[in-house]
Amino acid sequence: MDRSALQESAPTTQADSAGSLPGLGEKEFQFLARFVYQHSGIVLGPHKRQLVQGRLGKRLRALRLADWRAYCEYLSTQPDDELDALVSAISTNVTAFFREAHHFDFLSGKVLPESPTTSAQQLRIWSAGCSTGEEPYSIAMILAEAMQSLPKGIDAKILATDLSPQALATAEGGLYRIDRLTGISEERRQRWFQRGTGALAGMARVHPRLCKLITFRRLNLLKSWPMRGQFDAIFCRNVVIYFNKETKQDLFQRFAARLPDGGHLFLGHSESMHGLNEDFDLIGRTIYRKKVS
Ligand SMILES: C[S@@+](CC[C@H](N)C(=O)[O-])C[C@H]1O[C@@H](n2cnc3c(N)ncnc32)[C@H](O)[C@@H]1O
Repeated sequence: MDRSALQESAPTTQADSAGSLPGLGEKEFQFLARFVYQHSGIVLGPHKRQLVQGRLGKRLRALRLADWRAYCEYLSTQPDDELDALVSAISTNVTAFFREAHHFDFLSGKVLPESPTTSAQQLRIWSAGCSTGEEPYSIAMILAEAMQSLPKGIDAKILATDLSPQALATAEGGLYRIDRLTGISEERRQRWFQRGTGALAGMARVHPRLCKLITFRRLNLLKSWPMRGQFDAIFCRNVVIYFNKETKQDLFQRFAARLPDGGHLFLGHSESMHGLNEDFDLIGRTIYRKKVS
């Protein structure tokens, strides 16, 4: 199944594609595709031209730029200013609580009972590409519930990172519409969410005990990683679908270096390490364990 950056996203609306902007020419599209690839690893194939045009039209209008050439020039002169908006416009942040539920069953049933693997006192989990926070909060629920059976006094923490500052702002806010909680059992909703009232009616706030377990940080997976140390488990799900073979190979190798022998890596349902890396065994549905070296 071809699941690329733009397919999970909303279709281009009439308003996006209408208006007075000229069409996105081949040369400018090539420039944008190269820029996006270099800065985020996301590959935009030639068939994405119409979608890119629809999605980015709004940016051109917001910046009051007359045409695509002007936008490319703007990108060349202000790459850091525009990167976030550009990548947010062309990628998707689609996520959900307990998405791919079998990963969370495996985390509570197999990974945590055998952890920590990195140190006797520390348990570290990384949600790499955490989007708007549903994934790390789901991990935090499992972790908080398992805490009683983990060694006493253990220091357990989740690092949650993403490229998109907008997605991270939502994640850090920890406030979700009630209809976003569909993947969560009633018992967990009662335990881990506070229902909003008044102006916040229809919303639910994540319990502060879960928030305390998570550190949110902006991080581009393609660039250097400032954090030190290893992780007992890494979740990098539905992120590498946008990357080409070389980028995936490089990333999997870097993940392997951040996991101890026996550490776990979780990928998304349509992602695979097959033919790209030899450091891991596939031990479940898109669940990988680092081999003993
Ligand atoms: C579809 S969401 C996946 C969210 C979550 N992991 C899940 O499976 O539900 C993909 C996320 O990857 C992030 N992303 C894409 N390229 C990235 C990069 N180079 N570095 C860090 N995050 C990236 C996007 O910003 C987006 O939030």
